[in-house]
Amino acid sequence: MKKLTLLVLTSFLFLGVQAQKFEKLAMTPPMGWNSWNKYGCNVSEVLIMGMADAMVSSGMKDAGYEYVVIDDCWQVSRDENGEIVADKDRFPHGIKYLADYIHSKGLKFGIYSCAGTLTCAGRPAGRGHEYQDALSYSRWGVDYLKYDWCNTGTQDAKSSYSIMRDGLFAAKRPIVFSICEWGSNKPWEWAGSVGNLWRTTGDISDSWNSMISIFSQQKDLAKYAGPGHWNDPDMLEVGNGGMTTEEYKTHFSLWCMVAAPLLAGNDLQNMSPDTKTILTNKEIIALDQDVLGKQATCWRDNGNYQIWMKMLSNNEKAFCLLNSSDEKKSVLVDFALLAQARNDWDENEKPMSLNNYTVRDLWEHKDLTLKESSIYVDLLPHSVKVYRFNRK
Ligand code: GAL
Repeated sequence: MKKLTLLVLTSFLFLGVQAQKFEKLAMTPPMGWNSWNKYGCNVSEVLIMGMADAMVSSGMKDAGYEYVVIDDCWQVSRDENGEIVADKDRFPHGIKYLADYIHSKGLKFGIYSCAGTLTCAGRPAGRGHEYQDALSYSRWGVDYLKYDWCNTGTQDAKSSYSIMRDGLFAAKRPIVFSICEWGSNKPWEWAGSVGNLWRTTGDISDSWNSMISIFSQQKDLAKYAGPGHWNDPDMLEVGNGGMTTEEYKTHFSLWCMVAAPLLAGNDLQNMSPDTKTILTNKEIIALDQDVLGKQATCWRDNGNYQIWMKMLSNNEKAFCLLNSSDEKKSVLVDFALLAQARNDWDENEKPMSLNNYTVRDLWEHKDLTLKESSIYVDLLPHSVKVYRFNRK
């Protein structure tokens, strides 16, 4: 009996100090807005509050966007106690004031730091201050932390990120932990127990080539993603001007297919109708946010014509036909065959019969009326078609 009590006591003690991340966070890929892609270092209280306002008034919040994240350059120094200090000119009321404002809008607040000695923009970073910074973030009301990888010298990635995870856990406020080491140390292999999302590549830029090359690097990573732990192919460029509307539709569709975190990176205060339509397409977003949390796999690869398949809850699934070539393509699509498609390695997936499903075009917002199971589909250059098989 004594032995049993001792065993229970020691396991309690052990569990009490055991490193862990918060449970039940980011059960679907996080959605929000981040300052970096459009504004770089040019961040301020006025900008961030304006974006929070616009997130609500533009319908982005209704579509599911939640986190408003300040990226690099909000911080300028540390005080005599080592506390991180925000730029007083740009954030005159301090970070807690901003967090409170964002919370008052029914949104959540995110911030940025880095595992090295300095951030990528040369600002003070977290190395050696992890627990102290986690306490500040917790006190301010931070809900999301993006943690970068500049100026890390010979640091080990897994242990560096684990220190911050433990700091956040010790500070007791559930904070989504976004690991940003650009895929350098294969975070998909170790970060599931450390963070909630991890970058899989270097930085995206606002061009077709950058976007499609990043997307192609997600191909073998599907098995590592799931509720609470996601592959992150970087933030969205939709609406920033470097791609055509068709290309932005493709960018957004592909990110939703691979269950990517959806962090818009454009000016929410001045969105064109096209940009708004893309970012708030609820039927496409529903693929990303599906509770099963499966990342799409490439089911057929014909080089610049690919078919991606995403399994969804309720035995439903989605397909994305991708024409990444510079030419228009007309492809014969057999929906009966698609209904039967499954990933061989996943024994939970059952082949389905087209008879039990309706097929919906998620950009046209229309169910298909299929007289035959095969039809020709026209794909513009750099475009997609996204179909969802809904149970009848
Ligand atoms: C990069 C990161 C970007 C952005 C930038 C800030 O390392 O990948 O997303 O955060 O640092 O300096």
